[in-house]
Amino acid sequence: MASYLFLRVAVSFIFIVTYIFATDTSSFPKNFLLGTSSSAYQIEGAWNESDKGESIWDWWTHENPNFISDGSNGDVACDSFHKYKEDVKLLNDLKVDFYRFSISWSRILPTGYANVINQEGLNYYKNLIDELLANGIEPFVTLYHWDHPEIFERMGGWTNEMMVEWISDYARIVFKELSPKVKYFATLNEPNVLCEEGYETKIKAPGKNLGSPGVFLCMHNMLKAHAKIYHIYDEEFRKHRNGTIGIVLPCSGALPKYLNDTAAVDMHFQFKCGWIAHAIFSNTGDYPQIMKSHVAENSKLAGYPRSLLPELSSEWVQYIKGTSDFFGLNHYSTWLVETVPRTKEQEWYAYSGVKESRDPSWPKAASKWLNVVPSGFREIINKIAREYDNPPIYILENGFSDRCCTFDYLRISYLHSYIKAMLLAIYEDGCNVQAYSVWSLLDNFEWSAGYTERFGLIHVNFTDSNRKRTPKWSMDWYKDVIATRKLNFTWELPTIIHI
Ligand code: GAL
Repeated sequence: MASYLFLRVAVSFIFIVTYIFATDTSSFPKNFLLGTSSSAYQIEGAWNESDKGESIWDWWTHENPNFISDGSNGDVACDSFHKYKEDVKLLNDLKVDFYRFSISWSRILPTGYANVINQEGLNYYKNLIDELLANGIEPFVTLYHWDHPEIFERMGGWTNEMMVEWISDYARIVFKELSPKVKYFATLNEPNVLCEEGYETKIKAPGKNLGSPGVFLCMHNMLKAHAKIYHIYDEEFRKHRNGTIGIVLPCSGALPKYLNDTAAVDMHFQFKCGWIAHAIFSNTGDYPQIMKSHVAENSKLAGYPRSLLPELSSEWVQYIKGTSDFFGLNHYSTWLVETVPRTKEQEWYAYSGVKESRDPSWPKAASKWLNVVPSGFREIINKIAREYDNPPIYILENGFSDRCCTFDYLRISYLHSYIKAMLLAIYEDGCNVQAYSVWSLLDNFEWSAGYTERFGLIHVNFTDSNRKRTPKWSMDWYKDVIATRKLNFTWELPTIIHI
């Protein structure tokens, strides 16, 4: 009897302890990875040094300074090409698990093609990787963050299907040279943003302004390119470090403007996130069915002889399906969405029939597209988990912009609320999030906003030729989060300081 009682007490004790630990929703799960992110054009500078070729961003900013808020460019940026050791020192101070950076295609292949390999350019990345590894930080390499060689743009860029081959040749060289030391690879960063803002409109390089036909074609070719790069890695290089590779998609949140309009939320998701994600992560593959039928009908109404959404052959559907080991998610903000009724004979609003707006009560960052809505983050993580059978999710960008200051308590507040939402998605909703990365380590060249919007945990003085780096409050805060592997849920905003 005594031993039975002892057993019962022991079992209850184990249950209670397990429950307490299992519900510690403020601690990161075991093996969870924390990091920071950047991209080549935004930080490296040295745009024409060491035999680097010209990229579309070099060309765009030099030819069209009026398209950049402050007329600036990335010629010098944070000068990380020369100051990478200082950057790694800062990363080491933070004690991040990984650092996400991208490779500049034209630095490695100055002609764009795989006929000339620039050893000096390659050495820059090899040295950076060695420096990271020596400091116990895993390099997380993005192959393509929007800066392809300008020569290919003159041949149509992402509207030319040959890009699939050209980028595959480049990827093979990167894998051959770097995969022995790199465990984490991302193929393409945010195809949607590049295709919408660089090909459909002219907000970003290459500024093609081709309207809807341009964006559909660009996305189609980028999707194929991603799949081909994945297969090259999977078949020829994965064995080197038993590494992992995936795509990075920008999925903003969507909340219904009108309570019952949940259809708008789903439609928004399928047209934005699902466009590429469905082809890769769903069981059936291909573009989302709703998107195929909407675009086909809308194209007809607009008088086109065929759908603007190109068809994927069944061979391509099979080839693309399953080509991502993780769901790389970049997330910043959320939209209010509403269904715009389609009237007879009239095209669907923006092809999807869903209109985006913002709630004026949402707090704002410096970037006009960035509102602070942490609940939208939790929602989108859940939506991805539901749609694609709970894949491993890596949050590869999340961050907040301001215009100044090292006392950046608004950034801390943003990051705190978003990480909290993510932890709740993990613990309360069972989502499989395995990594989180802040955009960005340093203030940097923020595309068409130039240097007017700052996302860094570290301030960079862009008028100082030495590009002095000064840690902000948020760096200390993140350092504490990493050291304790815990978010202080009771933390409150300091109210005494105002910008
Ligand atoms: C992402 C992009 C990054 C960065 C960030 C903040 O879309 O991948 O390069 O600029 O937005 O705007």
